[in-house]
Amino acid sequence: MPRKKTKLLQAPRGTYDILPEDQIYWERVFRVVKELANDYGFEKIDTPIIEDTELFIKGTGQTTDIVEKQMYTLKTKGGSSLTLRPEGTPGIIRAYLQNGLFNLPQPLKLFYFGPMFRHEHPQAGRFRQFYQFGFETIGGTEPVLDVQILQLFLHILKDLGLKKIGVQINSLGCPKCRPAFRRALIDYYKNKKQKICPDCERRLKINPLRLLDCKEEKCQPIKVGAPLFLDYLCQECHNHFKSVLEFLDELEMPYFLNNHLVRGLDYYTKTVFEVWFDEKKDEASQAPLALGAGGRYDDLVKQLGGKATPAVGMAAGIERIIALMKEQEVKISPRLAPKVFLVQLGELGQRKVLKLFEELHQANISVAESISKPSIKSQLKIADRLGSKFSLILGQQEALDGSVIIRDMESGVQETLPKDRVINELKKRLAKK
Ligand code: HAM
Repeated sequence: MPRKKTKLLQAPRGTYDILPEDQIYWERVFRVVKELANDYGFEKIDTPIIEDTELFIKGTGQTTDIVEKQMYTLKTKGGSSLTLRPEGTPGIIRAYLQNGLFNLPQPLKLFYFGPMFRHEHPQAGRFRQFYQFGFETIGGTEPVLDVQILQLFLHILKDLGLKKIGVQINSLGCPKCRPAFRRALIDYYKNKKQKICPDCERRLKINPLRLLDCKEEKCQPIKVGAPLFLDYLCQECHNHFKSVLEFLDELEMPYFLNNHLVRGLDYYTKTVFEVWFDEKKDEASQAPLALGAGGRYDDLVKQLGGKATPAVGMAAGIERIIALMKEQEVKISPRLAPKVFLVQLGELGQRKVLKLFEELHQANISVAESISKPSIKSQLKIADRLGSKFSLILGQQEALDGSVIIRDMESGVQETLPKDRVINELKKRLAKK
């Protein structure tokens, strides 16, 4: 009878494994983000991956694509509705309120890492489980706080070795000035209904601001003539935005004023921005693929049940950053080479090596081995590849008479030493290297 082939299971569509060979990039991103976030006064926070569905409906926004189409929601046995977080901001604000973090000196500056989940159409740079790092500054209205978040993000990208980064910025006003702009936008689009795409027809009814975000060819000429938010900003929003731009000029940070930048989340007020690689386009829309994005959200804390508390933040897509690091061939130094490599032969040699491994560790000498490899030659090859300074060789004979062969990997010179002298001898020789 022919044997039935077992079908190999695959990771769910839009998810992927981060293999050992790639960890070096991830570690680098985490390290740079953590160091710079601390330098800029941000403290780390972790929130659950799963939250009450209501948090995202109220926080991210009922009419956003994320809430309408992209959430992974499940019913618990107890009947409640939980959702895998599609973004980090609502969870951070919930934690801020739940844990009374508003009692700490404000503004409170927080940063985070973690997986997010969105049921999107997977393609290059767009996943269903993806990782973000993000920053939120809660409890301050000052324009300088908006700019500091952008400055920190650009600093991170620069330290990661990335080039050709561009900033797009806009202001979305506040609940005082937005209704007038919304009205103007509806009036403008109302008699052009036949010329816009079906999505835009829907947007016109439920979320007119998103009309400006449409990437359909057909809608572009109409968009060009649409009213500009900047003409409708109230005095307060106008001054705030002017100040943000002045700070950017002061920092000599190039930016592009994009009147059509509206963002896909409902909570933004005043400043919004996106940071992107100049040359990379989104496969579906041919729009630039944002590396990170964010803005001010002065009403979210109140909407989630707290006191009126202004805030500003951003988040970045780590996969997109790493893809760009690879594309721009950013060099990353590999992990520090282990100073000593342990080579064994035969079962007795193996046994002694396990012990010696621990002794070297305790003496703070970095050490590596390849204990399952049978031949000395192949083990020495690995030692060479790793860049170890010395190898310690323990064969059957050495194991029996309590000695060890020490081999200088550069010169190839070997010497036999009693095992109990080997650590001191190594320390001496390593100090000279
Ligand atoms: P967002 O624009 O939805 O904003 O996402 C921020 C970044 O996450 C994007 O610029 C992109 O790099 C990455 N990203 C988003 N979706 C995907 C995906 N499906 N696959 C890969 N990468 C993706 C937020 O999430 C807001 N919480 C940002 C924020 C924080 N605003 C204020 N505070």
